[in-house]
Amino acid sequence: MENNIKFRFPEGFWWGSASSATQMEGAANGDGKGRNIWDHWYETEPNRFFDRIGPNDTSNFYELYKEDIRLMKKLGHNSFRFSISWSRLIPGGQGEINVKAVDFYNRVINELLLNEIEPFLNLYHFDMPLELQEKGGWESREVVEAYVNYAKTCFDLFGDRVKKWFTHNEPIVPVENQYLYGHHYPALCDFQKCVQAGFHSILASAMAIKEYHEKNMDGKIGTILNLTPSYPRSTHPADVKASIIADAIFNRSFLDPSVKGTFPHELVDIIKEEGFMPIMADGDLEVIKENTVDLLGINYYQPRRIKAKENLFNPHAPFMPERYFDYHDMPGKRVNPYRGWEIYEKGIYDLLINVKEEYGNIECFIAENGMGVENEKRFINEEGIIEDDYRIHFYQDHLKWVYKAIEDGVNVKGYHVWTFVDNWSWLNAYKNRYGLVSVDIHQQFKRTIKKSGYWFKDLTKNNGF
Ligand code: BG6
Repeated sequence: MENNIKFRFPEGFWWGSASSATQMEGAANGDGKGRNIWDHWYETEPNRFFDRIGPNDTSNFYELYKEDIRLMKKLGHNSFRFSISWSRLIPGGQGEINVKAVDFYNRVINELLLNEIEPFLNLYHFDMPLELQEKGGWESREVVEAYVNYAKTCFDLFGDRVKKWFTHNEPIVPVENQYLYGHHYPALCDFQKCVQAGFHSILASAMAIKEYHEKNMDGKIGTILNLTPSYPRSTHPADVKASIIADAIFNRSFLDPSVKGTFPHELVDIIKEEGFMPIMADGDLEVIKENTVDLLGINYYQPRRIKAKENLFNPHAPFMPERYFDYHDMPGKRVNPYRGWEIYEKGIYDLLINVKEEYGNIECFIAENGMGVENEKRFINEEGIIEDDYRIHFYQDHLKWVYKAIEDGVNVKGYHVWTFVDNWSWLNAYKNRYGLVSVDIHQQFKRTIKKSGYWFKDLTKNNGF
């Protein structure tokens, strides 16, 4: 098998997977955890969740973490990204620390290290403590301060062993979904609040980076962004312009300040012209300018196909970024029908080359890439294993382009799949499964390695495929 390796990755390449606290821990009300927006939304509007399955009981990593880490080791992880649940560590978001949570995260970190799996620790993955959301969430300056205190607490508690930190996962996602598109609580539709929340999450990230660097800890801190390369329908200048605007709104809005400490003028021009500038305090822009990331995590799932706007918008409707472009339904595109996302492997290469050329070739890694599929039970073979060949092909197809990016000089250090064990999803609960390992939610969350898990094991063993 060794000799058949066509794509051999550099020595020390980071192989692993990513996850998040609310999506996999379970014990949502256990051991002193406070409530977050998901616990609250599920309690008040369970109809919003697929099959009415909520975040209270997700994949039970809280109890099964040792078994999961043993499986990670078996499948060849050398790194694993997870997040701290802010409301578990500090119920209410500010104030007293929950000692049981400290104990839990210490046990997880130590168990990973014992198994030679490097913990990549993320501070925020969509799960605002409820009390802080009631103060306005990311809209509120007080929440920015609370977040920075929470970040400092985490650095002090775990920074002796954790050497890779991330301030946010996909910070644009909660902002757009809480304040524009209605997918996350409190499901508002208010562009002004959206801009304010976006600005505050960027500021919070820069302030946390500042704190981390000032502590002189011997690790790195970055952020994780979902990048969706924008492709215009055609070379017509109107399509190209629309695509540049979509890119500024959905990618460069967070990528530029995170890596360069600046904001794209295409976005600032629109926000100014439309009258949505956020409230900023003196010195905020300097903090953002001076505290950029050491390392960039990139989540890639799908591209964005854009065309010039076809119809005039309704001037009385709430402001939406889509006033500046339309989505283009490209004929012939390949789509994952369960999630509705286009599959376009070359997008991963294009965005990596863009990071090389436009962002100083900053050290980066693929922090999420994956394919969610419904009803995987239909693929179970006689040995009880899900034969998810489509997932193996999906990973191989993307990895070929990551390999090419490395050949072309991109400073990309690793590849993490989404996800290790099937987990609960914000909108789809357990409908679409992404794991290398399946979970039976009706049998105490029993784990079974899928075919893709065994494939991943060979991939990591051979450092390529
Ligand atoms: C990423 C998120 O955007 O996509 C994860 O970081 C999420 O939290 C994953 O679960 C897959 O998306 P979904 O909506 O199918 O769960």
